[in-house]
Amino acid sequence: MVTAYDAFHGRLLREAGIDIALVGDSLGMVVQGHDSTLPVTVSEMVYHTRMVARGLKGASLLVSDMPFLSYQPSIETAIREAGRLIKEGGAQAVKLEGGKDFVPTVRALVSAMIPVMGHVGLLPQKIHAMGGFRLQGRESAEGEAILADARALSQAGVFALVVEGIPGELAKRIASEVPVPVIGIGAGPHTDGQVLVIHDLMGWTPAERLPKFVRPFSRGGEEAVRALSEFRRMVEAGQFHKTEGHDTKEGPDAPVRSQ
Ligand code: KIV
Repeated sequence: MVTAYDAFHGRLLREAGIDIALVGDSLGMVVQGHDSTLPVTVSEMVYHTRMVARGLKGASLLVSDMPFLSYQPSIETAIREAGRLIKEGGAQAVKLEGGKDFVPTVRALVSAMIPVMGHVGLLPQKIHAMGGFRLQGRESAEGEAILADARALSQAGVFALVVEGIPGELAKRIASEVPVPVIGIGAGPHTDGQVLVIHDLMGWTPAERLPKFVRPFSRGGEEAVRALSEFRRMVEAGQFHKTEGHDTKEGPDAPVRSQ
């Protein structure tokens, strides 16, 4: 699973054969430039989900995150806001953060025919209560509580579970004890699947903001700055029109950009 926030990302995931596209509320940080995911709204999630759907063209499962306070106030709110992600955004499932406190919400969403992915461990929407983005479940009582959350969500009907920022041994236990697929992030190698934020995977996240557990698969950020600097240098030097392939040979009626 990989996050995606627009049609371009959707196309990249489709071409790479990624199983699940997650429109994460991480977009608040990597796209909108906030310090947390808390400011993201349902309307923004709908907007980004619609874009991803256009690029993905149904090639992978499209899951959209329920942002902060879109499901916590009441079950009725949760059904209405999840419904917007499905009806307006084109998502096929929603993801929500939290453990056994949200079992009634998950049951109600599943009864309303909305597939739900769970998310336990480090919960970015709980950043203030957790005191920052810290590894969770290091103490054995805390680890047991996360395992109990995972079991409770699975019994409530989630079709898959994200485990974030927990020790690898705990993730391994959850993956072996919970019947649904467990997808890890910062949770070691023993889960059924892995998820990364596309900016981290592609090397677009500046090194000082990159989570410790991420090894980028590309130097996309460095390459982008190199290309932009080269463009600026050539324009300033009056050499831009001499770049190869700049002039079209297809005649005046050829489309400038195909759709
Ligand atoms: O918001 C997000 O991108 C996520 C993933 C990191 C799992 O929840």
